[in-house]
Amino acid sequence: MTQQGADHHHETDDGGTRLSDQPPQSAAQAWDERYSSKPKLWSGKPNPQLVREGAGLRPGKALDVGCGEGADAIWLAQRGWTVTAVDVSAVALERAATHEKAALDRESVHAEGAGEIPSRIHWEPCDLEQWQPAGTYDLVSSQFLHSPDLAWQGPLRTAAAAVKPGGTLLIVGHHPDRLPPWGNHTKPEMFYTPTQLVEELGLDSPHWQVEVNTTRERGAAGPDGEEAIIGDTVLRATRLA
Ligand SMILES: C[S@@+](CC[C@H](N)C(=O)[O-])C[C@H]1O[C@@H](n2cnc3c(N)ncnc32)[C@H](O)[C@@H]1O
Repeated sequence: MTQQGADHHHETDDGGTRLSDQPPQSAAQAWDERYSSKPKLWSGKPNPQLVREGAGLRPGKALDVGCGEGADAIWLAQRGWTVTAVDVSAVALERAATHEKAALDRESVHAEGAGEIPSRIHWEPCDLEQWQPAGTYDLVSSQFLHSPDLAWQGPLRTAAAAVKPGGTLLIVGHHPDRLPPWGNHTKPEMFYTPTQLVEELGLDSPHWQVEVNTTRERGAAGPDGEEAIIGDTVLRATRLA
């Protein structure tokens, strides 16, 4: 199994199976319900395309859009980034903060005498339908922002606008033609191709330099251990001005 292998997490149902018969009232309720249905929804490991694309970047201020259980934000913070991590689910954010605390405790045990290591992540509850980031960032990352109740175009445009000049935009998601065979993919419009990202976010403009715009295959494992090759849409771009 490679780094981008079946140990990765996005292999439950991105269609968002709901437990109760009542339709949830809001995105927050829907996602809280989904997160509460399991002690852990994702693998706890950083997304492989973030690791691949982000490892070479100089740390600064990062924004993680739709951070879920926090593995990406924690990975960034461990590499020296100061991170703002936003998500609509309070359950996911609480879990993320708990994982961060455990990671910091482990760090302080290794760094004997360093005392308590302060958090480098601001976990922020936020509905991306009504969202305005507070500042600009050296890195804006959004990984698998797929939700049946959310049109990705608006939030990802807002995310792109939050990249500082010279900063990096990294967007990763499932390619609609290369979805995992498991899961409930009743809304293919939740997913995006590399071309759709460039067009919808206006990245084919003189303000951006697109560095990576591709679909990458990787092995993935489903909730019952089943394996498949799936395709990640990967877009990395630098804001020029
Ligand atoms: C498929 S998960 C991906 C989570 C994380 N990025 C990862 O890769 O593990 C999609 C995330 O988007 C969040 N989300 C869905 N709708 C949202 C909204 N309207 N505002 C903010 N976050 C939302 C969900 O709570 C969920 O954590």
